[in-house]
Amino acid sequence: MDQTKIIAHRGSKGTHPENTLEAVKEAVRVRSDGIEIDVHLSLDKELIVIHDETIDRTTNGKGSIQNLTLAELKQFDAGSWYSPEYSNCRIPTLQEIFCFLEKVDYKGLVNIELKTDKFSYPGIEEKVVAFVAEKNWPFTVEYSSFNYQTLIQLKILDDTCKIALLFKEHGENKTFLNLNIPVNMWHPKLSWFKSISPFQVPELPVRVWTINKSEDLQFCFRKQVAGVITDYPQKALEMRDKWQN
Ligand code: G3P
Ligand code: MG
Repeated sequence: MDQTKIIAHRGSKGTHPENTLEAVKEAVRVRSDGIEIDVHLSLDKELIVIHDETIDRTTNGKGSIQNLTLAELKQFDAGSWYSPEYSNCRIPTLQEIFCFLEKVDYKGLVNIELKTDKFSYPGIEEKVVAFVAEKNWPFTVEYSSFNYQTLIQLKILDDTCKIALLFKEHGENKTFLNLNIPVNMWHPKLSWFKSISPFQVPELPVRVWTINKSEDLQFCFRKQVAGVITDYPQKALEMRDKWQN
């Protein structure tokens, strides 16, 4: 039996400031099978790792990523909002995260979520695919997005890339995906997974998000889902080893 993969959400959101290098370091330290990070495009077209469209919630600054340059974004403290001990954290670029993972020879999965559901960030798909193709990274890269035009575009740019269909609630919008575009994984919420009958479980790998509670982790391990995306990778790994060994 394949064990459920443990994918650290926004680095390790539950224990460190989300989507920072510190959070990603923690995900590596605890040996997460995968790491999920969110990507936007700055005013000067740099790939920026952050969840929201603005820096308001997770830094001491204000403004939209799309209206700020990388140099401007780097001025802000991206850790103190979480805890004063992280006041040196800065918003990372995708390049900084990848270089760190390369340095530590990370062999897991990196799930890049393209945050194009509110702003389309024209050209972001080309930039991401070109950046990933620059090197032979030691880890596997896969993409996800709530914006299916982004997923289609990624497959057009690189037909070997792996794409995950992200959906909320019952994912009615997934029927809008161009059926000629093969999807590789489904990334639904747990409520969807719980609502379907065993006969409706797709043949594609299902990775459920965001699974933090012990009872939900146990449920996913019992059902042997392909993966869980969690804010607490260390806890999830410890529980998995108890439930699936
Ligand atoms: O990829 C799962 C999850 O990250 C999707 O939602 O809002 O946390 O990016 P969000
Ligand atoms: Mg995400």
